[in-house]
Amino acid sequence: MRVFVAGATGVLGRRLVARLAGHGHDVIGLSRRPENDAVIRSAGGEPRRGDLFNVDSLVSAAQGSEVLVRAATSIPSGIRFRRRDWIPNDRIRTQGTKALLEACAQVGARAYIQEGIVWIATPRDGSLFDEDTSPDPQLWFGTAAEAEQIARAAGEKNGFATSTVRFGTFYCADAAQTRYMGERLVRGKLPIVGPGDNFWSCTHVDDAADAMTAVIESQASGIFHAVDNQPVSLAEFFIAFADALGAPAPKHVPRWLARLALGPETLDFLTLSTRTSSAKLRRELGWVPRYPTVREGFRQVVEAWRADGFIPGRGAGG
Ligand SMILES: NC(=O)c1ccc[n+]([C@@H]2O[C@H](COP(=O)([O-])OP(=O)(O)OC[C@H]3O[C@@H](n4cnc5c(N)ncnc54)[C@H](OP(=O)(O)O)[C@@H]3O)[C@@H](O)[C@H]2O)c1
Repeated sequence: MRVFVAGATGVLGRRLVARLAGHGHDVIGLSRRPENDAVIRSAGGEPRRGDLFNVDSLVSAAQGSEVLVRAATSIPSGIRFRRRDWIPNDRIRTQGTKALLEACAQVGARAYIQEGIVWIATPRDGSLFDEDTSPDPQLWFGTAAEAEQIARAAGEKNGFATSTVRFGTFYCADAAQTRYMGERLVRGKLPIVGPGDNFWSCTHVDDAADAMTAVIESQASGIFHAVDNQPVSLAEFFIAFADALGAPAPKHVPRWLARLALGPETLDFLTLSTRTSSAKLRRELGWVPRYPTVREGFRQVVEAWRADGFIPGRGAGG
């Protein structure tokens, strides 16, 4: 089948293009920049030029596609987030989603699938939740919930299937955020906030691409959580990463100090408890994560860095 991927050159998109092409699908990858065409070709896709804020460019790039996918984001780098840093990402999740759905209707595709985040349904008391839990977005998560509503409404109006695959804390060797965390851990500059006893549900990006591929191929519709088998505490997350790196165990800092250093929004994000599971995705589509917990996932990340000559704390080739 022909699948059109917007965001084909990002950490998720390039894996998705490779998986789909590897399964024999005809994959069209969108990029705004000619210099990214080689990334799409090397993953096995065919590059096309276009922009999520220009419907006509999407319609012409996606002609003949049965499924349209939004893997594009614009997540701010670093760790000290302010609300305004998320505005470009908000635009992608709202206007970009609308434009891609309009293209979906115009090219007569049978399905639309997008990335999402599990945080939008995190209960305020930190209890376990799943796809049936009503969204209650906090912090900057509102537009991820909007993207789901926009997709559902467009699917109902135009008669195509829509799905959102919600991910947890993303990590992989080539993600800027993961490299940043690795660097800071090696330098002893990524402390655990407070006791670090809040939970995170995590997703290795290889597993994220497999989950999206399973949804695309199944013709399923709805919401799916794609996270590994075991939510870990914030402390366990950083200790497991430090262990894999051979770095010293991170120290704890009090909340007030973290608030001064990182700002209130990052602090709230780091200390949210997000505990969910991918039981639905396993049950309905047979998806199983390659990296059952962050311990296996971080070992793979560090092995990939060593193979590439990237040594956190010393930079590329150091
Ligand atoms: N991608 C995700 O789903 C996702 C989800 C959660 C967290 N993260 C984290 O965010 C950080 C950056 O991720 P990343 O590497 O995927 O980001 P990135 O390198 O910034 O890639 C974003 C992708 O979105 C596309 N894109 C952005 N704006 C677009 C627009 N207006 N029209 C069309 N395409 C557009 C880019 O295409 P061009 O080739 O045109 O630049 C690119 O393919 C990483 O640390 C990652 O872990 C990513």
